[in-house]
Amino acid sequence: MGKPKIYITRKIPEHLLSPFNDRYEINMWKDEKTPIPEEILFERVKEADGLLCLLTEKIDRKFIEHASHLKIIANMAVGYDNIDVAAAKNKKIIVTNTPDVLTETTADLTFALLMATARRLIEATNTIYHDEWGDWSPFMLAGTDIHHKTIGIVGMGRIGEAVARRAKGFQMNVLYHNRTRNIHAERQLQATYVSFDKLLEESDFVVSLVPLTEETTNLFNQNAFQKMKESGIFINVSRGGVVDEDALTEALKQKTIRAAGLDVFKNEPINSAQPLTKLKNAVLLPHIGSASVTTRENMLTLCLENIDLVFQGKTAKTPVY
Ligand code: NAP
Ligand code: GLV
Repeated sequence: MGKPKIYITRKIPEHLLSPFNDRYEINMWKDEKTPIPEEILFERVKEADGLLCLLTEKIDRKFIEHASHLKIIANMAVGYDNIDVAAAKNKKIIVTNTPDVLTETTADLTFALLMATARRLIEATNTIYHDEWGDWSPFMLAGTDIHHKTIGIVGMGRIGEAVARRAKGFQMNVLYHNRTRNIHAERQLQATYVSFDKLLEESDFVVSLVPLTEETTNLFNQNAFQKMKESGIFINVSRGGVVDEDALTEALKQKTIRAAGLDVFKNEPINSAQPLTKLKNAVLLPHIGSASVTTRENMLTLCLENIDLVFQGKTAKTPVY
């Protein structure tokens, strides 16, 4: 029997592959920046025993039925809403994700985005680049305080807790909402469990860190934004699909909420045609939550380790089911 065939949907650094090269026949897409076209991926995955894919790939039922040799799909992300897990399970294909290794890096970015939005950092920088820095004045670019304010975290899981730890350093009051109570966060971080509505009503910062599921699709809709304080700031680092972007755009335009910081969007990548880009009170990032070199390398290594374990007949480190 030949070596198991692994397909990787983006060009990744050789030094990460070298520990595995002897045992596997590894092929990958030639480009680091551009996703593999769907029809080419379909062709390449036909004979593959293992797949390392990114969140840009839609691994649906049709794909899974077509890729009949697959034993493992290792997703380079903690979120796995791009994969039809039920269809994979049905075919006894293991699906793995990359929890923990990206938690602190994503929490850093979440807090950076919260601070940039509250203190209007992008707007401020742009006054220099666009020669608009007039004389200093009392309320020039005055923003919102962060310290001692209330942060409401929707999705108090791994990243939610790491954000709450950062918030404690700013003497913030921490509220959270999950489907089940997180006793660890309550004891260690003095986080208070509240209903979704109460969180919206009482938080100065509403932070979304929930996975995208049927239940959370458009969770942050017109109704939710109406419940937020007029001075409230909305931060989303989970998935664009949890937000009704039209309702958010309207809330920002009408100033029924003060500002929003978004790392994720319904249809990525967005460009300057996206109505949110026209708003000064929106800070937009191109899905860079886990983007530090070390963390991205750790995520890829974890994917490769999961694949390796499965082909050794062992349990993957981070299976999603
Ligand atoms: P996690 O540990 O599983 O935390 C998710 C939390 O969401 C859990 O506490 C869960 O609690 C809660 N939750 C799930 N469904 C819910 C619902 N219907 N209503 C309320 N709360 C709900 O996951 P994580 O590692 O923190 O990652 C969270 C998400 O962040 C990922 O799924 C991914 O989409 C996103 N992410 C984005 C980036 C980025 O680059 N922007 C990077 C990493 C992760 P219950 O089960 O008790 O409800
Ligand atoms: C990134 O968005 C992830 O889910 O890891």
